[in-house]
Amino acid sequence: DESFRGVIAVDGPSGSGKSTVSKRLAGALGAGYLDTGAMYRAATWAVLRSGAALTDPAAVTAAVHAAELTITTDPTAVAVRVDGQPVDAEIRGETVTAAVSAVSAVPAVRAELIAAQRRIIDAARDTTGIVVEGRDIGAVVAPDADLKVFLTADATERARRRSTENATALAATQADLHRRDQADSKVTKPLEAAADAVTVDTTHDPIDAVVDRLLVLLAERDGAR
Ligand code: DC
Repeated sequence: DESFRGVIAVDGPSGSGKSTVSKRLAGALGAGYLDTGAMYRAATWAVLRSGAALTDPAAVTAAVHAAELTITTDPTAVAVRVDGQPVDAEIRGETVTAAVSAVSAVPAVRAELIAAQRRIIDAARDTTGIVVEGRDIGAVVAPDADLKVFLTADATERARRRSTENATALAATQADLHRRDQADSKVTKPLEAAADAVTVDTTHDPIDAVVDRLLVLLAERDGAR
């Protein structure tokens, strides 16, 4: 049959279009969708709730370990919960955004979330298939992905997209993105593609054109098997 099975890894920095592209791609394929950044954000919300100091890796790890994080894989209805409480709005706020790089830099936190991500991926791989977006997905989380995509866009365009999303000033957004790229680069490679990834620059392309291009890549890959 024609339906998709397998794993598509979509990596790239904030503002590269990764979330919108990944959700639409999953929708077009009838596949699941996993937002790994939302998992790091939910873990960060749990850490802030616990009062653990961000500078104390053991306390941060304990707070993440104690929290029950759940996330849905329906691309049209992403829902993130911590101990049963919906946190979808909270995890997009400034407080969580400012703290998420520190929490996701803790190795034991990464180990725990990567294990959870692999369980979700393994459950979907042979049924609906799944599009997984984040950082280090193609290189670390799902090195056996069937298609690896790295989305980029130039820094000004990334900030422009983010500041429309958040209604904050462009210069401040660009500075904040730069700060987060630098902080995240100590742990993952947000600005670097995995060796076997296809790089797609989204600076000038509308989302639909990018999704169409990925569907063509996927069809070509299937044809080559
Ligand atoms: O994609 P995002 O902005 O929602 O990601 C939030 C943060 O989580 C990002 O600053 C880095 C971190 N992250 C990570 O370390 N590994 C991932 N797979 C996804 C996100």
